[in-house]
Amino acid sequence: MATATSGAGIISVDGVGFYYDPKREFKVIDSISFESRQKEFLSVIGPSGCGKSTLLRIVAGLIRPSAGSVTYMGNEITEPIPEISFVFQDFALLPWLTNIENVKMGLNLSRIDSYSKELRARKLLKEFGLEGFEDSYPNVLSGGMKQRVGIARAIASNPKVLLMDEPFSSLDELTANTLRADIVYFLRSKYIRVSSVIMVTHNVEEAVELSDRIIVLSDKPSRVKAIKDVGMKYPRDRHSKEFLSLVEDIYTELSE
Ligand SMILES: Nc1ncnc2c1ncn2[C@@H]1O[C@H](COP(=O)(O)OP(=O)(O)O)[C@@H](O)[C@H]1O
Ligand SMILES: [Mg+2]
Repeated sequence: MATATSGAGIISVDGVGFYYDPKREFKVIDSISFESRQKEFLSVIGPSGCGKSTLLRIVAGLIRPSAGSVTYMGNEITEPIPEISFVFQDFALLPWLTNIENVKMGLNLSRIDSYSKELRARKLLKEFGLEGFEDSYPNVLSGGMKQRVGIARAIASNPKVLLMDEPFSSLDELTANTLRADIVYFLRSKYIRVSSVIMVTHNVEEAVELSDRIIVLSDKPSRVKAIKDVGMKYPRDRHSKEFLSLVEDIYTELSE
């Protein structure tokens, strides 16, 4: 069920379709429409290979859709813009830069002076539990710590929209659990002013734990199969009846 967008969202994805091949023989995304709202954590869930990373790269302005359009506050996204940041599945840290230099990369386009950049990056690393690791290199960090640097870099410039591509899927489950809980805490703290989060994932429990709404995608060529409101208070109990029932409901949507 693809719903038309009203244009009132922070991000509006409107009839986006995509082919990688120029001959347009292998459709990856059929037609996808949805909106992200103010103060919303939105997840997009779908099977592996259905085009989630592709969709997120389109929203980020890194690639152009073959059909349809994406807008940020009503303006079409045709290239990356400072209001939208990206968190990568494999962290994408630069190994030749120290951890604080990696966070400062997120401030490259900011017009603040280098002293303020340093202060901000230091404060963020501290917030993310990485005090003492400022001047070491990513290779000394565990996966969870690397992703904290990746997230700190993404939010350093105070973006309005945070796009996350399976940000926990390269981590072991224990580390992922801790980081998920921290993310919920960070994104809701007044220190961070992200208006809208869009996370893609193939992990149903993760989507139900973190999201306000969940967009369920079909197999490739993908389209929107269902949109679920979560409506449970944080922190969510993975063993509660409500939680388990929504998880089951989404598994059913995915397997139909
Ligand atoms: N650069 C590319 N060139 C050609 N095909 C690609 C490229 N990137 C991804 N694909 C194909 O597009 C489909 C969707 O990929 P992707 O967006 O990575 O899916 P997901 O993130 O949901 O696993 C897959 O079949 C994948 O093989
Ligand atoms: Mg992917």
